[in-house]
Amino acid sequence: MPSDSKIALVTGASSGIGAATVRELAAAGVATISAARRLERCQALADEVGGRALRLDVSDADSVAALAGELSDLDIVVHSAGGARGLEPIAEADEDNWRQMWESNVAGVMRVTKALLPALRRSDAAHIVIVGSVAGIEAYEGGGGYTAAKHAVRAIAQTLRLELLRDAIRVTEVAPGLVETEFSLVRFEGDAERAAGVYEGIEALSAEDVAEAIAFCVTRPAHVDIDYLAIKPTAQATAKITHRAKP
Ligand SMILES: NC(=O)c1ccc[n+]([C@@H]2O[C@H](COP(=O)([O-])OP(=O)(O)OC[C@H]3O[C@@H](n4cnc5c(N)ncnc54)[C@H](OP(=O)(O)O)[C@@H]3O)[C@@H](O)[C@H]2O)c1
Repeated sequence: MPSDSKIALVTGASSGIGAATVRELAAAGVATISAARRLERCQALADEVGGRALRLDVSDADSVAALAGELSDLDIVVHSAGGARGLEPIAEADEDNWRQMWESNVAGVMRVTKALLPALRRSDAAHIVIVGSVAGIEAYEGGGGYTAAKHAVRAIAQTLRLELLRDAIRVTEVAPGLVETEFSLVRFEGDAERAAGVYEGIEALSAEDVAEAIAFCVTRPAHVDIDYLAIKPTAQATAKITHRAKP
């Protein structure tokens, strides 16, 4: 890796969009640090692309502080850690699910950003990319906990854009629709059949499709900030309105 290459931390790098982003950025010549709770997966990915791996639980302040202690130089942070839990209506809301979604998607972005801003401020081309969602601008039945969290993520991205304007730190929110990853498996607590149903009859985005969009954002010239990038399958118009092939 050339010594002048940019350095990127990717959270949620043990799976899906985060892992694909590590591969995409590494291919673009960026030095990558893969972080998530499943360190063994991050380590395998780091071995594959020639980067570093660190254990990170974004819901744990000590874990975030330990990560920050490891990183003195940093140019790019991609916040991909997060996801949904459950699909129950608010009348039957599971408080633990709501808490976990808030912690991983919302407080996690705050914690990691806050801890890494000193390092980012030392970069002459810092960039924060946050993986939001179509759920950040729409509501759907059963999605209350997740849509509330991703709406909050949208607000955080917009707030950072204002607060970091004078620091010339770029902030981008990439907001995907349906992406076939482990997302639905996690949402439905390992129920593979129910998870597969989410993608039935539709060509969903792949993690690589979203990773390519993220790599496009971070490889623009320093004066170009892609503020918000929505990306959906062609067969998806809104969070819940899709065109599906009949079985
Ligand atoms: N798939 C979709 O349809 C879709 C659509 C729009 C937005 N998104 C968003 O895209 C992002 C990535 O999701 P994905 O689709 O790639 O799902 P995924 O395959 O389930 O990946 C989720 C990643 O988040 C990490 N993570 C979860 N909680 C964490 C925590 N407390 N600390 C650190 N890492 C944590 C997981 O790693 P560990 O479990 O190893 O920690 C995993 O690497 C999420 O923010 C999700 O909300 C997904």
